[in-house]
Amino acid sequence: LGRRSSKYEIFTLTTWLLREEQKGNVDGELATVIASIALACKQISSLVNRAGISNLTGLDGGENFSGEDQKKLDVVSNEVFANCLRSSGRTGVIASEEEEVPIAVEESYSGNYIVVFDPLDGSSNIDAGISVGSIWGVYEPSEECPIDAIDDPDKMMEQCVLNVCQPGKDLKCSGYCLYSSSTTIVLTVGHGVWGFTLDPAIGEFVLTHRDVKIPEKGKIYSFNEGNYNLWNDDLRAYMEHVKDPAAHNGKPYSARYIGSLVGDFHRTLLYGGIYGYPGDKKNPNGKLRLLYECAPMSFLAEQAGGKGTTGKRPCLEIMPEKVHQREPLFIGSKHEVELLEHFVAGK
Ligand code: AHG
Ligand code: MN
Ligand code: MN
Ligand code: MN
Repeated sequence: LGRRSSKYEIFTLTTWLLREEQKGNVDGELATVIASIALACKQISSLVNRAGISNLTGLDGGENFSGEDQKKLDVVSNEVFANCLRSSGRTGVIASEEEEVPIAVEESYSGNYIVVFDPLDGSSNIDAGISVGSIWGVYEPSEECPIDAIDDPDKMMEQCVLNVCQPGKDLKCSGYCLYSSSTTIVLTVGHGVWGFTLDPAIGEFVLTHRDVKIPEKGKIYSFNEGNYNLWNDDLRAYMEHVKDPAAHNGKPYSARYIGSLVGDFHRTLLYGGIYGYPGDKKNPNGKLRLLYECAPMSFLAEQAGGKGTTGKRPCLEIMPEKVHQREPLFIGSKHEVELLEHFVAGK
């Protein structure tokens, strides 16, 4: 029987997950993990939107492993993410920007997925109401080191670290949620990049961005030029080139930078161009963390036909040694990223 299409039919993240399962692109366990992440994003969206009202702006007083002062919402978002992943019953180990070490999840009874996440990205912006986001990556447990209950806590910790420290090329899912003028989830399960916007009227993420492809070439560059004096000569030469109208038949690039990777990346994904957080004299490996910022965003960029690189090598090829390891990140349209690589790596 031909399906009667109804004008009331909506295509939600849940519908999309069911279709991806039917196509064999995800299994039921992974779909459950992703649905639990979407629930966390709905809760964080509500918390972020009401931060000023419910006294959730400002500092928590703690410091995370990267040496950053934690905002109240960093800590709260971290708990929301961890609670949703735990109650999914499909998560084996979680690693977070806001947790020093990975956490084994006892409640998992099947699936055992590994989830790495940045619960609140761009949190320095939260008190000013500027866009923030959440970023995640999902891996399967590593064969060499299956997660099973071991009495020895040191051995258990070693097992957890081994399970989260996987290269981005092994990601089964990566995505982000942008908390901005709209709340939008953008994710990939290795078959293109799809975006879903939260409809507050029904509390569902509705399909709004189908199989997103990043423009081959853009006209926006997104760097914190406040660090210019700390950059090396190659990068400065690249920056001068990008800003030289003569090099772009009279039309120089525009600069856009909001200091939230999720917001800056989302604009780059849709409009094209390049986002960069280079290493510099103070921080040779830059500021961004490979596991829950560079690798998940690079998986999305590559799935959308773009590139994500440290300048020297593709981010997805790097085997993390440490959970909070930093790497330089240059990500966006192929044309701009390859031009950058030409300047900084002589490619
Ligand atoms: P987080 O808030 O999760 O610590 O991430 C902040 C990151 C990233 O979101 C952003 O692009 C970058 O820090 C901004 O750094 P600067 O303020 O040094 O430009
Ligand atoms: Mn932080
Ligand atoms: Mn971040
Ligand atoms: Mn963060």
